[in-house]
Amino acid sequence: MSIPIHKYDVVIVGAGLAGCAAAREAAHAGLSVCVLTKLHPLRSHSGAAQGGINAALSAEDSIDLHEFDTVKGSDYLGDQDAIRLMCSKAPETIRWAEKMGAVFSRNEEGKIAQRPFGGQSSPRACYAKDRTGITLLQTIYEQAHRDGVDFKDEYYVSDLIYEDGKVNGVFAYDLVDSKPMIFNARAVMFATGGYGRAFKINSNAHANTGDALSIVARHGLPLEDMEFVQFHPTGIAGSGVLISEAARGEGGILYNSLGERFMEKYAPNKLELASRDVVSRAITQEILEGRGCGENKDHVHIDLTHLGADLINSKLPELRDLAITFLGQDMIEEPISIAATAHYSMGGIPCDVDGHVRKNTTELVEGFYAAGECACVSVHGANRLGANSVLEALFFGRHVGQSIVTDVKAGIEFKDAKTEDSSAAIARLEKIRTSSGNERVPALRDELQQSMTDNAGVFRTEESLVKQKEILKDLKTRFADVRIDDDSKIYNTDLQEAVELGHMIDFSAFIVEGAILRKESRGAHYREEFQTRDDENFLKHTMTYMDENGELSTEYMDVVLGNHELAERTY
Ligand code: FUM
Repeated sequence: MSIPIHKYDVVIVGAGLAGCAAAREAAHAGLSVCVLTKLHPLRSHSGAAQGGINAALSAEDSIDLHEFDTVKGSDYLGDQDAIRLMCSKAPETIRWAEKMGAVFSRNEEGKIAQRPFGGQSSPRACYAKDRTGITLLQTIYEQAHRDGVDFKDEYYVSDLIYEDGKVNGVFAYDLVDSKPMIFNARAVMFATGGYGRAFKINSNAHANTGDALSIVARHGLPLEDMEFVQFHPTGIAGSGVLISEAARGEGGILYNSLGERFMEKYAPNKLELASRDVVSRAITQEILEGRGCGENKDHVHIDLTHLGADLINSKLPELRDLAITFLGQDMIEEPISIAATAHYSMGGIPCDVDGHVRKNTTELVEGFYAAGECACVSVHGANRLGANSVLEALFFGRHVGQSIVTDVKAGIEFKDAKTEDSSAAIARLEKIRTSSGNERVPALRDELQQSMTDNAGVFRTEESLVKQKEILKDLKTRFADVRIDDDSKIYNTDLQEAVELGHMIDFSAFIVEGAILRKESRGAHYREEFQTRDDENFLKHTMTYMDENGELSTEYMDVVLGNHELAERTY
């Protein structure tokens, strides 16, 4: 059977901020661009970003300070060339977004308003109330349309067309009717976002299942620094839905069940505005030591009542609505219940500062790019600062779009794809769609998420990680025996959820493997037996590969150092 083959200069997978910004740049330069997304673009998770986007705009701030805060926040694992590039281009990125039509909140002088965020030396997060992500996404999506980008919504990309060190396109199927097709291009970019859904309590959209990572890994390409998963301090208790760091930026105070402002113990200078890894560990520690609030002592409180109704309604209206909806608590009247929630993935598809995907520690893949949360450039190292992810997505999305234009104009070859290039992907899908085994997707997914939270979460030990490695092996075996009830081809969400589960099991093994091998504590990765950072042995990036039998192997890559010398990280 032959299948349709669509041809473009550029195919981008993912329609969040990074994907839309890259698409706009490439189309604006005259290339034919297709964006494939399994959602509607405006439902991409970038739209959930609440608190802000960093740029050193004020007279009290500087690019050097932004750079220093980011390097320190990364626990010195961030690559300083990439950090320098992003921070130096942040002011221009904000001006560009504004010129494209994004409306930022203003201060009394009429300038773009900026709020404090954790780990930062100056109020630096530019914002649109607490709806920053959706404001930017709507703007850039519109502009991409204006430049003629061909958006294909509700297409699921399940494989790369990769041959002889060059990516020539992707395999996708239409979610409406399961029709398979190939998108053949000179350049392919992945901008598929994060993978927090591998954890039970998380702030991520249901779509954040890390498909791209497992697709890349299946081709023997490496994933970088996967052990570094950020837990945001303030997820709504029970559900994990995000209460933005803006709540602490505007003055929210954390209390345990004894009424203690416990951050005084953990970060005496920065208090609630220490970096996220520090605050999340403090909250989790309070809960583990029995000072959690509520009947189950499983959360703490953030108190915003002193801010008053006017400030909350004008600057945090979305947060107030979320707390009322999910908790029945009105933050104007009472403290609200929060706990740490899996939020962001510092690791991902390794790439250089221009978005070229790495084949290994020294070589690049031709015609293949990544940007945004699925990529590891690495600007966040072991821990990301709040409001640097929206910046990363917007800046690197745009920058990688421009880098694609340069490469295409310099003559990346167009290699024709053939129907046979999709044989393995079609066979994999058909096997799942028609399989009649004994295991159920929701049950396996629940086991995966709960065990990742229990064994590879905020605190990790050798024992918990080794146990998790075995659990993942078992889940992988049982996944091969899965049964789905719907074997139809029309909007088969059973099939999609099964494919996504397979992806989550695969990349979770990378998280656990990296965490077992990294015998130190750095940023978001905390090992109880090795509680300090070990620069002598672990100031390096983890690069892990999967072979055709699913076995993992790891090598390490140097961190790019720069002006900011290694120092102890205190807040
Ligand atoms: O807390 C927040 O508003 C999230 C922002 C971020 O993750 O950068």
